[in-house]
Amino acid sequence: MKEFEKIREDFPLLKEFTYLDSASTSLTPIPVIEEMNDYYYNYNSNTGRGNYKIAIKSSNKLEDGRKKIAKFIDGNPDEIIFTKNTTEAINIVVNGLNFKKGDNVIISNIEHHSNLVPWLNLNNVELRIANINNDYLVNLEDINDLIDRNTRLIAITHISNVFGSKQDVEEISRISKENNILFLVDAAQSVGYTQIDINKIKPDFMAFPGHKGLLGPVGTGFLYLKKEIAENLMIKNLGGGTVRNIEGNNFTLENVPYRFEGGTQNISGIIGLSKAIDYINNVKIENIENYCNDLTKDLYEKINSIKNIEVYGNPDNIHHTVSFNLKGLNPYDISKILDETSNICLRSGFHCSMPSVRTVSPENGVIRASIHCYNNFEDIEKLCNELKLISQLS
Ligand code: ALA
Repeated sequence: MKEFEKIREDFPLLKEFTYLDSASTSLTPIPVIEEMNDYYYNYNSNTGRGNYKIAIKSSNKLEDGRKKIAKFIDGNPDEIIFTKNTTEAINIVVNGLNFKKGDNVIISNIEHHSNLVPWLNLNNVELRIANINNDYLVNLEDINDLIDRNTRLIAITHISNVFGSKQDVEEISRISKENNILFLVDAAQSVGYTQIDINKIKPDFMAFPGHKGLLGPVGTGFLYLKKEIAENLMIKNLGGGTVRNIEGNNFTLENVPYRFEGGTQNISGIIGLSKAIDYINNVKIENIENYCNDLTKDLYEKINSIKNIEVYGNPDNIHHTVSFNLKGLNPYDISKILDETSNICLRSGFHCSMPSVRTVSPENGVIRASIHCYNNFEDIEKLCNELKLISQLS
């Protein structure tokens, strides 16, 4: 616990604000910011292009980042594609697979829009929806019932960005393999909070943000893409860095993963993300997981004990995110009051996950408090004391 109090010093913003919106984006620790500044001050140059000293340094740092990310999830570096966020990672898959008329894809009714809208946008593909049970977990029987011989892919969030429920992705992976169906996991809310082991989950695709659990900068993310599938994916973002040769009107693609990374990368961001992984490794993911679970338990219980409050979550399976409403009050008003009176930052509304939020609050959405390892029990106490005062207004 003392160790986590010390960590707070790496996040200067915490001196002024009680930050409870890490599910949206996490705070960035000073060593990560310094690493990015070092790039701009001392070796600002493009990667994979020039052969002068600083260009070689930035290229090596970028590739070191790829290796570090791969090791972190127990994958191979050539299975890691840098993206600007989770949404871009999922879009690479959606637009890369050659769907046929009549194919269907299964998702759940608690997906973030990033794992919903790209599928909705596909012509000719039927989207099938598995529902959650009362415990906020996707009903596995629903998934089984929805599968038929035209099912090409199952795409499921690992941890819900609204309810904090962690899905049994190993079991869903097993179901998909048994039926010869591709499997995509949206790890937007799980990486950095819990150990991700590609060899246990066995996905074909897994989409990750850099700027949430991993404590990296905004504008970073990555896609894990199984090598044998990568070779056959269509690519929409072609250009610099993606081809080996051009003769007349014909071009030969670069190797995987470079063919997927058209144009100049977010070099400082990726170098920052690589440093953020060092930071997480230093604190240790299992310590982060245990501490965040303790904080979440406290958050859930304290919020749940407030009069006139309705909490949406399963106390036996809730991870770093607690959504709730104060009866009779608008969620947007509450987050604004918390901000104005106490500098408490949290998000209200539909959380880019309308179908999910509408399962519990169709009209105005929900208030959501989400934590990371830089939060403490005092932050939770402060939030709940303010909520108690506000609840008297209802
Ligand atoms: N995906 C982010 C959230 O849930 C933006 O708030």
